[in-house]
Amino acid sequence: MTSPKCVFGVTGGIAAAKASLAASMLVKACVDVHVIMTKSACEFVTPLTYRTITANPVTVDMFAEPDEWNVKHVSLAQSADVFVVAPATANLIGKVASGIADDMLTTTIMATRAPVIIVPAMNTGMYTNPIVQRNIATLTDLGYRFVGPECGRLACGDTGPGRMAEPERIVEYVLHVLEAQGRADLAGLKVVVNAGPTREAIDPIRFISNRSSGKMGYAVAGAAAARGARVTLVSGPVSLSRPEGCEIVAVESAEQMLEATVAAAADADIVVATAAVADYTPAHYSESKLKKGDGELSLELARTGDILARLGADRTSSPRVLVGFAAETDDLLANAQAKLARKNLDMIVANRIGGDDSPFGSDSNSVVILRPGHNPEPIGPASKLHIAHAILDRAISVLVD
Ligand code: CTP
Repeated sequence: MTSPKCVFGVTGGIAAAKASLAASMLVKACVDVHVIMTKSACEFVTPLTYRTITANPVTVDMFAEPDEWNVKHVSLAQSADVFVVAPATANLIGKVASGIADDMLTTTIMATRAPVIIVPAMNTGMYTNPIVQRNIATLTDLGYRFVGPECGRLACGDTGPGRMAEPERIVEYVLHVLEAQGRADLAGLKVVVNAGPTREAIDPIRFISNRSSGKMGYAVAGAAAARGARVTLVSGPVSLSRPEGCEIVAVESAEQMLEATVAAAADADIVVATAAVADYTPAHYSESKLKKGDGELSLELARTGDILARLGADRTSSPRVLVGFAAETDDLLANAQAKLARKNLDMIVANRIGGDDSPFGSDSNSVVILRPGHNPEPIGPASKLHIAHAILDRAISVLVD
């Protein structure tokens, strides 16, 4: 399999060095990275850094003659599967928005048909300047994608929006866009994903929870956003960063997860329930800390509501596609099939747990997708990101069936 190709533009800002981490992470994810540096980028970081990281020649404007751009920019532009500019200065954004192509980077951006991801980094005053905001709005309308900037303390000492998005955030989005292969097949649709564990409080200090990391659900949400959907991600407590382009509703208990998911699902086209919702919650919450005694302690537990079963009970209204997960230690397919029927789902993603197969916290997974009228489809071992797109492919086929 040939590696996808990313053309990675670097402009002149203090974040030009940090952006090399994103380039390095892309290389580790088997992406073929080709860097173009502007003249001012070379004031902050040397081309040698990027050449060493990517093992590819780095194109630097400083030495390039206009004749050379004419040939090279077309070949790089045409061969790109994705184009990233990190960091992107106000100057670069202004030039692209105005159709100015006067160096290797801007001419290549102009010539490419690949999705272009712009990662702004600049002083807060510059970022909030209406001219910059207008340029970003113009480019967004034209289909250019933006990651960040984040808020925080900037190199200039100011605090506010303008700091370049963290390399992990950039890379995760780039990988989603690559996996989506330019498809915007969820544009105009609303996708709701719930993810992560729930916490059922026993007293102000203790709770009952589970091992879910939320990674699978976050991958589905990020994948749907990369394919153009409006995404609401109802998330239990996890330590993951917000996937690009998703609205997050943070919840803690199973009851809150149910309320938030049902509310978001009311006008959704697709619901994917990846959350590991507690089936039981303490029947009596203690306002004061429970003190230990000499003997054993029994906790009375009450059943929680089943979110999927509730959504599946009335299939005449939204959502049009209802997808569940089944985490099983035994009889994977039989148990998953029973949940598919019992909860009235269009699809269930069966996940074996236990033995050597622990998907918890892992970046990869092996699943079997079950759909009424279709043979079971094993997928993986593959990255959760790849599995997320495979789930969405099948959800879309349910929509068009
Ligand atoms: N689920 C839900 N609400 C619950 C429990 C589970 O919506 N209260 C959803 C999960 O998000 C998942 C699917 O139902 O998509 C299956 O969850 P799982 O924990 O595998 O199964 P349960 O239905 O809880 O059954 P059991 O625990 O007996 O296996």
